[in-house]
Amino acid sequence: MQAATQPAVVAALREALGPRVVQLPDEFADRKHSDASRMPCADPIALLRPGDTQEVATAMRICHAHRQPVVTQGGLTGLAGGACLLGGEVALSLERMRAIEAIDAVSATMTVQAGTPLQAVQEAADAAGFFFPLDLGARGSCSIGGNLATNAGGNRVIRYGMMRDQVLDLEAVLADGSVVGGLHGMIKNNTGYDLRNLLVGSEGTLAVITRVVLRLRPKPRAVSTAFCGLPSYEAVTTLLSRAQAMLPAGVSAFEVMWPSYCDFYLAKLPELRAPLAGRHAYYVLLESLGAAAERQAETFEAFLGTMLEEGIVEDAAVANSESDALAFWAVRDAPGENARVLPGRVSFDVAFAIAEVGEAARRCEAALRARWPQATILVYGHLGDGNIHIAVQQPDWPATAAREVQDVVYGVTGEMNGSVSAEHGIGTKRMHVLGLSRTPVEIAAMKAIRAALDPLGILNPGKVFR
Ligand code: LAC
Ligand code: ZN
Repeated sequence: MQAATQPAVVAALREALGPRVVQLPDEFADRKHSDASRMPCADPIALLRPGDTQEVATAMRICHAHRQPVVTQGGLTGLAGGACLLGGEVALSLERMRAIEAIDAVSATMTVQAGTPLQAVQEAADAAGFFFPLDLGARGSCSIGGNLATNAGGNRVIRYGMMRDQVLDLEAVLADGSVVGGLHGMIKNNTGYDLRNLLVGSEGTLAVITRVVLRLRPKPRAVSTAFCGLPSYEAVTTLLSRAQAMLPAGVSAFEVMWPSYCDFYLAKLPELRAPLAGRHAYYVLLESLGAAAERQAETFEAFLGTMLEEGIVEDAAVANSESDALAFWAVRDAPGENARVLPGRVSFDVAFAIAEVGEAARRCEAALRARWPQATILVYGHLGDGNIHIAVQQPDWPATAAREVQDVVYGVTGEMNGSVSAEHGIGTKRMHVLGLSRTPVEIAAMKAIRAALDPLGILNPGKVFR
C-alpha cells in the first residue's frame, strides 16, 4: 500500500510503533486471519504485533483517537468466530508476547504474557514441579489470552474449573489505551468489583488482556483411566455421583460418548482401537488424578468392580499403561479430525442441568432424525459439566440446512433452559441465539458495561451482541 493511500490511523500507528510492530497488507499477504469457526472473515487494514504492554497501550490510544475498530487475536483456534474480522478492522496479534516472566513456587503462581501458548504454560508448570490443569485439543496453538477471552473449558473442568478458575489477576489495556490490573498473586481479593472476572469470557469486547498471574496446582502423582460401557442415562449419572463420592482422588474427567459417536469414528479412523468389545447405550471415559501413587490403582479397580457388580457399568477397560490411556483419549479426541471426516458439519456446544442432558440429547436426536433420516448425528462431551457437543452432517445438504438444524437444536436448548454456548463463546456464530440463554435485562446490562468501558465501541465490534 502506498503511503498516500494509507488510512490516517495506519500512518499514525506506523509512525509511532514502526514497521516491526505495524505491518501493511502487502507485508502480510499470505497470512491467515480467520479462526477455526468456519465463519466468514475479512482481511485487516493493518496487522499489529506489539512486543509489550506499552506498545499495546500506544496502539489502542491511537486507534481510539481515530475511532478505529480493533480485533484482538490469539492462536486463532476459536470455534465461535470471536477473532474473525468483519471488514475495516486492525488486527492486534499478541503472538510476540509469549514470555513466561516468573514462577513463584511458594505462592504456586506463574506470570505470563497473554500470547503464551497453553502448552508452553503446561510444560513450564511441569518443569517447575507443578500442574497447570486447563487442557484442550488446541493446546499447542491456542494462547492463554484467548483461553481467558473465551473462558475456555476442556476436559478437566469437573475437577479444576474453567479458565476463570486458573487466573488470580490480569493486566489489560482498555479501549482508550489506559492500563488496568495490578497482577496480584493472591487467591483472596475482595476489593470492590472483580474486573478480572468481568474481562474473562468477554471475547475481546472489553479490553486487551496483556499479562496474567496464573494459579498452579500440585502435580498429580497417579493417573487412573477407564473406558466404561453403560446401559442407561440413569446409570451414567449414578456412576458420576458415585465416582465423585467414592474415589479418594475424585473425578478429573468424565467424558461421555453416545454409541453412534463410537460407531462412526471407529469405522472412519482405522488408527483407533475399540476399548470395549460389545456395544453399549453410553460410553464414559473416567479419569481420576491422585496425589498418592500407592493404592490408587487398587482403589480405582475396586470401585469399578463394585459398579460392575451393581450393573451400573456393563463392561470396563482399565488403562494399564500410559499408552492404554492415550488410546482411550484418542477415541474421545477423534472430533479433532472432523474437518476431514465430517466436512460441512453443523456443530453445537450446549449445556443443560446434568439430570436433563440425556433427555435433551434424545429430543434433539429424535427431531433431527425425523427431518433428516440419513444424517450423521454425533453426541459427546463433558457430561460432568452438563456440556455436550452435537455434530450433524449430511453430504448432500443445501446451504439452508444449517439454519434448520440450528433451529432444531437451539429450539430444544431454549425449551429446556439450557445454554447455547457452554465453553466456546458467542463470537458471531451464536449471536442470533444469545437471547435463548440470557434475558433482555441481562443483555441490556452487558451492553451498559460495554458502553462504559468502550464508549466508542472500537473493541471487537459486532461480536457477542450487536
Ligand atoms: C471438544 C471441543 C470441541 O470438547 O470442545 O471436543
Ligand atoms: Zn468441548
